[in-house]
Amino acid sequence: MDKIVIQGGLPLKGRIKISGSKNAALPLMAASLLTDSKLILSHVPSLMDIQTMMRLLKVLGIHSSMMFGRLALQAKGRRGHEAPYDIVRKMRASILVLGPLLAKLGKARVSLPGGCAIGARPINLHLKALEAMGAKIKLEEGYVNAVCPRLKGARIVFDDVTVTGTENIMMAAVLAKGRTILENAALEPEVTDLADLLNHMGAKIAGVGTSTIEIEGVDDLGGASHTVIPDRIEAGTFMIAAAMTRGDVILEGLNPSHVDALTQKLRDAGATIESNGSRLRLIGPREIKPVDVKTAPFPGFATDFQAQFTALMSVANGQSTITETIFENRFMHVPELNRMGAQLEVKGNMVVIKGVERLQSAPIMASDLRASASLVLAGLVAKGVTDIHRVYHIDRGYESIEKKLRRLGAKVKRAKVRY
Ligand code: EPU
Repeated sequence: MDKIVIQGGLPLKGRIKISGSKNAALPLMAASLLTDSKLILSHVPSLMDIQTMMRLLKVLGIHSSMMFGRLALQAKGRRGHEAPYDIVRKMRASILVLGPLLAKLGKARVSLPGGCAIGARPINLHLKALEAMGAKIKLEEGYVNAVCPRLKGARIVFDDVTVTGTENIMMAAVLAKGRTILENAALEPEVTDLADLLNHMGAKIAGVGTSTIEIEGVDDLGGASHTVIPDRIEAGTFMIAAAMTRGDVILEGLNPSHVDALTQKLRDAGATIESNGSRLRLIGPREIKPVDVKTAPFPGFATDFQAQFTALMSVANGQSTITETIFENRFMHVPELNRMGAQLEVKGNMVVIKGVERLQSAPIMASDLRASASLVLAGLVAKGVTDIHRVYHIDRGYESIEKKLRRLGAKVKRAKVRY
């Protein structure tokens, strides 16, 4: 297993390119199940989760090959309809195959993903919507068994905003008979990216980017070529890193409007931020001001920035609070940051932070993807050398993170550990 070793105390300076979005690429890949033709996706990040989705699609009869960020996907031979536990347990986003399998093959058997480090994460809203579209669903032996020769269009009101839920049902509805209306749909840019691809494949989706999405079902979808949107979470993580190390960083190839809520909060914390087209420059503040944050669905402050922003506030000059409204247990980074000298206290769904002047290095452990990123940020400003264990969590979602950080002047390396 690998660990990341960081010598803290250097400001990040220079420029880096933002990779393609993991959370956009995964549903785009699942859309290959909806067609017999070829899909070509460009700007696909090279990440563990992408490999996991390629493995899952192979079991389902979709062959894929990736070269320099260009991923070709096409059905070959016999189709499968079972997403096995062994793959699904590694990546919850595997649930994204449920909607397309049911729409294309009329049946699906998908392992229930179970809880994870950030919360229980049920899929009841996905299942309720598919039932409203005529699917017969049974939960047996840890699997979702769903059948429906042809899904029917329906009006679906999501009780809560769900990103992969909206994506799953959108993929189910494109091949359903008749019109589906999704109310309280997610507005996240990754949902819009999926709708763009589906429309290129011949789907009829309107209202994307609003909370009401209308889908007129079609009989068949064709192939398409599509470029994945930039990873707003990677971009935001580097923005927070630049602010925290009091650096001066130019990010290239992002969509600044996707990180508006974070940009505002970083400005409140004292950072200077300018953006022009697909470039954004952030100059860190001399003094980091305390800022209160509450997570919300897009365009609000993303839960996927919560851990990293907590790390930033742990070295702010004063007291702040971070309130998590999306996931019930997304504070696994808190005890680890406290081991580095941060003064964080969890009170219900809020962390109360008393900013300290400096964090100290300590051996620490990554627990989930974004929590790991927050520990890397803490290591970048800590006094001494920080060892971060279990970094496979980071490799699920950040492409070449240590190379990018080194390019910005950080002293970061990866080392093998024997446990
Ligand atoms: N929820 C339910 N029932 C459902 C679906 C969701 O109760 O059927 C609840 C969840 O438990 C959670 C809330 O609704 O409390 C929102 O969950 P959502 O479904 O939106 O999350 P997701 O689709 O499983 C995606 C991202 C996450 C990101 C969230 C929120 C992907 C592959 N994952 O998850 O990304 O945090 O949306 O924006 O797109 C990450 O990249 O590190 C990550 C966790």
